Amino acid sequence: MTLSNKITIKHIAIIMDGNGRWAKEQGFKRTKGHEAGAESIRDITTYCAGHDTIETATFYAFSTENWKRPKLEVEFLMKLLDTYLKKELATYQKHQIRFQAIGDMSAFSKSLQKRIQKTEALTKDNTNLIQVLALNYGGRAEITMAVNSLIQSGKKEVSEDDISHALQTSYQDIDILIRTSGEERISNFLLWQISYAEFYFTPTLWPDFTAKELDTILHNFTQRHRRFGGL
Ligand code: IPE
Ligand code: IPE
Ligand code: MG
Repeated sequence: MTLSNKITIKHIAIIMDGNGRWAKEQGFKRTKGHEAGAESIRDITTYCAGHDTIETATFYAFSTENWKRPKLEVEFLMKLLDTYLKKELATYQKHQIRFQAIGDMSAFSKSLQKRIQKTEALTKDNTNLIQVLALNYGGRAEITMAVNSLIQSGKKEVSEDDISHALQTSYQDIDILIRTSGEERISNFLLWQISYAEFYFTPTLWPDFTAKELDTILHNFTQRHRRFGGL
């Protein structure tokens, strides 16, 4: 087995699930779970920034389907995002983390859109890690948008490479996809980018997910043999 068949972890993606259940279990409102979940994002991002090979960590924060939730919860999540970005700027700069957002931000308030753009601009030269937050994101919407932009550019036929490059962030395959909370589904996350990702489902609820558990997962994955269709 050559080393190239093994995992070099460059891009990890996380479906952060279980905030609501975490809160309910402790007798809190669901919103408390989202607040606790935001703390986990910071811990995991900082861990990734300190990791040798990880270049990008993509977190699913709000799906195109999450608008179906009660208005008050949606509003809380929008406000939390704004507060998080404001507060985390110091963390981004301290740990040399570049922030990027993917998804359709046009549905957000003007002030939140500004906060997102400002945070992207202020952190654009940071080189330790790219933290991508998927916001009002859907994998199908992203692929559809990519194909439409290719059509608009005049293409009559598109290749896989064309689509990869037309996706929202500079394209990078995902090495490991983690979902917390025991659910074992994709929920419309990075459909194109997960083609050869290794999956890991953990029962841990997102607010309880620690850098230590991530470390164990990464160690486990480096032992896997990725065949990419070969032998
Ligand atoms: C994930 O936690 C956070 C978001 C989807 C915003 P949930 O809010 O889905 O928590 P559960 O799944 O209801 O426990
Ligand atoms: C997926 O979690 C979306 C995010 C983590 C942002 P959900 O809790 O919304 O997914 P389902 O409804 O269980 O599929
Ligand atoms: Mg959920």
